Amino acid sequence: MPESPNAFVTIERAAAFLRAGGLVALPTETVYGLGGNALDPVAVARIFAAKERPFFDPLIVHIPDIDWMPRVVSEFPQVAVQLAERFWPGPLTLVLPKVKSIPDLVTSGLPNVGVRIPDHNLTRQVLRLANVPVAAPSANPFGRLSPTTAEHVQAQLGDRIDAILDGGPCRVGIESTILQIVDNEVTLLRPGGISLEEIEALIGNVHHPVSTASDSPIAPGMLASHYAPQTPLTIVDKVPLSVESDRMGLLVLRNDATSPQFAQIEELSPTGDLVVAAANFFQALHRMDAAGLHEIIAVRFPDSGLGRALNDRLKRAEHRRSDRSSC
Ligand code: TXA
Ligand code: MG
Repeated sequence: MPESPNAFVTIERAAAFLRAGGLVALPTETVYGLGGNALDPVAVARIFAAKERPFFDPLIVHIPDIDWMPRVVSEFPQVAVQLAERFWPGPLTLVLPKVKSIPDLVTSGLPNVGVRIPDHNLTRQVLRLANVPVAAPSANPFGRLSPTTAEHVQAQLGDRIDAILDGGPCRVGIESTILQIVDNEVTLLRPGGISLEEIEALIGNVHHPVSTASDSPIAPGMLASHYAPQTPLTIVDKVPLSVESDRMGLLVLRNDATSPQFAQIEELSPTGDLVVAAANFFQALHRMDAAGLHEIIAVRFPDSGLGRALNDRLKRAEHRRSDRSSC
């Protein structure tokens, strides 16, 4: 069904596909997710197959309302309740002990499951209509750029999935922040759409061993090479004074230098607003990837607020240069 306009469906059709074990791309505030019934191991296996994703990389389960938590997790400690009440619906995933009915395939055999309530009304309605928790990784082939529009999904995965629910461009634009809460210890597994500062203002200090991309991920799936454009990407501290080729692209927060002869410049926020930059980030990389550039030069973001998550994604995109095989 991929090329047909029918790939884009209503919330009722989307829910029906999910109930029947199908795969539906769903809009969220962060990125589009590739959803399947989290309680149906065959649907979950189809997600891994469509993405060509390794089974050691667990999936996040999406629910529409906080009173669904007992359907997914066996413990919901006070600190997690506090975080959920403050940040849900929103770009925060909580990793907590799972209930038995969540198949091991969802969690890659781990005893804990990642869960969140996405801040997107269409998708929350679909989840309520389908009446099942939905496992949804980002709707991109494994290791590639995350999709922030329905068109990105159509282009990257359209021929492998049953339907796409078009909810417009994603408001936040980078994936959720992932916090694991086990034995009352809170650990940052992935920086994302809620900043560490906001989280620590609410619950105090959080462990954050994942400050740099590394080859030995502490969270399964946190591979050094990930979220990568196909064009080689290099991170720099400042806009270079000269460029070597006329097919270079520049990705920059604000373009306040007199930039040399870049073939394409993507300025993410003229006012230097990191929230706006996050919303534009993957779209800009998708455009640059389509432009046939030799290389993307990306200027490092300030390492605070959402800049932390953006720098994390840049590091993983850059790592692809030396490690194409793991994508
Ligand atoms: O914003 C988001 O989180 C998006 C939207 C669709 O919700 N989803 C997303 O999913 O980014 P995905 O599959 O691309 O990334 C999920 C990551 C995994 O790679 C893994 O690092 C972590 O979440 N994760 C999921 N379940 C986990 C678990 N049980 N234990 C540890 N880490 C887990
Ligand atoms: Mg992903």
